[in-house]
Amino acid sequence: MNPMDPAILRSSVETIDSLPSIPTSLKQIMNLIGSSRVTLEEIANLISQDLALTSRVLKVVNSAIYGVPERISSISYAIMMLGMDTVRGLVIGAAAFELMQKVMAGLWRHSIACATVARIIAARKDLRNVEEVAIAALLHDVGKVCFGLKYPLELKLAMDQAQDDEITLLEAEKGYFAEDHAAAGRWLTEKWRFNRKMVEIIACHHVPRLSCTARLETSIVHFADILVRARGIGFAGDKMMPVLDDKAFDMLRLSKHDIRRILEELEESLDE
Ligand SMILES: [Fe+2]
Ligand SMILES: [Fe+2]
Repeated sequence: MNPMDPAILRSSVETIDSLPSIPTSLKQIMNLIGSSRVTLEEIANLISQDLALTSRVLKVVNSAIYGVPERISSISYAIMMLGMDTVRGLVIGAAAFELMQKVMAGLWRHSIACATVARIIAARKDLRNVEEVAIAALLHDVGKVCFGLKYPLELKLAMDQAQDDEITLLEAEKGYFAEDHAAAGRWLTEKWRFNRKMVEIIACHHVPRLSCTARLETSIVHFADILVRARGIGFAGDKMMPVLDDKAFDMLRLSKHDIRRILEELEESLDE
């Protein structure tokens, strides 16, 4: 179980759904989502059996991900509107809510705020895959959840070190894990068969220039992460600001005025 061994770390992250602490309903969903033959209907059915999950999914749809004024009130309608890849991510995100809170109080708020900012920017850029970008933002730190579930001691030590040495958690992870939480996010989302762009956004959110097929989308999430931290919303495991990639920032072409508007919109949506 040594997390400094890359192969062990990877298989440990990939078998996250075998953990006894993960509820059976979530295990079923993870399994179903990882299967190539699953239909939207089957996913909708499984979600609908779980009331808490249903309301959580709808809450996420209506808050950060889907920026329309009309409320979406049924799972099958949400699924129809959003499409398969977005729904996979959405369900995992909504189902992982409690795990996120357990591992790191404040990570859910950080994630939902990132998803909101990413959705706002993606819509301003007229991207076609706005919801996909938002969902990838919601799950960008899912690797931290894996680390916290499989290696709680090491994650705690890394967080303490980040605090003591005034470094980011990302940097501190290097001392305890063979690969960082972004790599863990890649392994997991590949296992769940997310599409290539969503995998890349999550895998490269700290180094957007490494993204080949989704550089703009990755830059959006990279910037959203930093903006949300700068605003002090939620908690992502450390108090330090990651370095802003200026090429990524330039690519977004956001003026100070734009950023002010984005923050206003974010705060409005968080108040709701
Ligand atoms: Fe991160
Ligand atoms: Fe983050």
